[in-house]
Amino acid sequence: MTKSNQKRFTQAIIRKGIYGDTMTENGCQYRERVLTMDTMNPNVKRVEYAVRGPIVQRAVQIERELKMGIKKPFTEVIKANIGDCHAMGQKPITFFRQVLALCAYPDLLEDSKFPEDAKSRAHRILQACGGGSLGAYSTSQGIEMIRQDIARYIERRDGGITCDPDNIYLFTGASDAIVTMLKLLVSGEGMSRTGVMISIPQYPLYSAALAELAAVQISYYLDEDNCWSLDISELRRALQEAKKHCSPRALCIINPGNPTGQVQSRQCIEDVIRFAAAEKLFLMADEVYQDNIYADGCKFHSFKKVLFEMGLEYSEKVELASFHSTSKCYMGECGFRGGYMEVVNLDPEVKVQLTKLVSVRLCPPVPGQALLDVVVNPPQPDEPSYDTFIKERTDTLAALGEKANMTQEILNQVPGIKCNPVQGAMYTFPRIHLPPKAILEAKEKGQTPDMFYCMKLLEETGICLVPGSGFGQRDGTYHFRMTILPPKEKLKIVLAKIKEFQQHFMEQYS
Ligand SMILES: Cc1ncc(COP(=O)(O)O)c(C=O)c1O
Repeated sequence: MTKSNQKRFTQAIIRKGIYGDTMTENGCQYRERVLTMDTMNPNVKRVEYAVRGPIVQRAVQIERELKMGIKKPFTEVIKANIGDCHAMGQKPITFFRQVLALCAYPDLLEDSKFPEDAKSRAHRILQACGGGSLGAYSTSQGIEMIRQDIARYIERRDGGITCDPDNIYLFTGASDAIVTMLKLLVSGEGMSRTGVMISIPQYPLYSAALAELAAVQISYYLDEDNCWSLDISELRRALQEAKKHCSPRALCIINPGNPTGQVQSRQCIEDVIRFAAAEKLFLMADEVYQDNIYADGCKFHSFKKVLFEMGLEYSEKVELASFHSTSKCYMGECGFRGGYMEVVNLDPEVKVQLTKLVSVRLCPPVPGQALLDVVVNPPQPDEPSYDTFIKERTDTLAALGEKANMTQEILNQVPGIKCNPVQGAMYTFPRIHLPPKAILEAKEKGQTPDMFYCMKLLEETGICLVPGSGFGQRDGTYHFRMTILPPKEKLKIVLAKIKEFQQHFMEQYS
């Protein structure tokens, strides 16, 4: 098309406002858009992600309205919807940021303000980077030295059980690792289509990834009356049911749990491993909250450690992928997108396929890899940054523990709200009693009852939560998910506002 034709065509589009319709101009045929809602990938349309859904979109809009001076019954929106630690005011660990700053701008290695241990870590990381720069691509599986450091970290964590750096893959956060593993697992058509067992309530990454891959979601329900524990008989029920229409191949566990905040006992993990072995299921253990344990008597047990302590019958047989991330725990460095996966008993030929698959995307972000390295290789007792590091880590985890207790205590005082102990992770998933009148009004508005509740809470108080329906819940029960991340004083305000709102809501609809 000549330039003048192009100009006239654009003008015609603007004039007629028919962008997308077939039209002819000087003999040129222009077609409808190729990519439309009718032609696009239907699996993508099925994807849902409540954590950033309509409530959050409305929250952003309200923030804009407040800035424009529109009067509301509150002066700020408090986002307690997402596990984004730093966005909620959590401070980064000084040592991590020092090493990252040095890696990003190596001239600072000459600066006497930086401690020697941070400099030596940065120097070591840079030596392992292409051209000594954080800006170079790395190998697709992740920088070898960092994978070795991760392997040593896992060995320390698991009481000496060996870890092969070749079984470690670095990713753009744990999300990328989980989706990649699911990609490998999904195959077949009809009855032979892969089914993947996920907990309900679940972290919606799982349901979204399964929808995108057109895999079959097999829901097993956590036991709310028993602190969201996992019951093997429920796993068995869900599996038997699913075998009628798909081929179950994988079982996903989130421990500590999101959104439910439970920490699994060692006994439960053993039972899950026995179940997976008996039913020939590939285990996926999402352990991104492994340092976030608050409740007395609760302890983190990695699936890898338990598997190996159960003896060769299991440790040589059960296939396991476990996941960790820089986004959670005391680090909360979500934006760096650092994560890793350890695979155990993966078929060597499949491993070649996995390595091929990750190499298509070149490599995970190198700053995220560098951050992972300092997380697994923090200051040691004889190093200058040790005391500050320990203090910052302890204070951050202690503050989260305090907020976990405060949240469950205050919410349990509110008539119509029932909350399990927040044993770990960063969330509470309380059950809310909604009167029939409220449920009816929600239906009239075309909303789920808990969406109706959360939307009303947002409009009246400025507090942004996620409706339980976005995570899955038993029919006829309603919940919301709230993070415990806001600073203590702000969290108190949030809880007081929820209490007041709930009382008013019950009066209005009873
Ligand atoms: C259970 C669980 N798994 C995985 C992720 C994703 O972590 P990342 O930021 O490393 O992708 C999250 C994030 O909230 C999570 O809660």
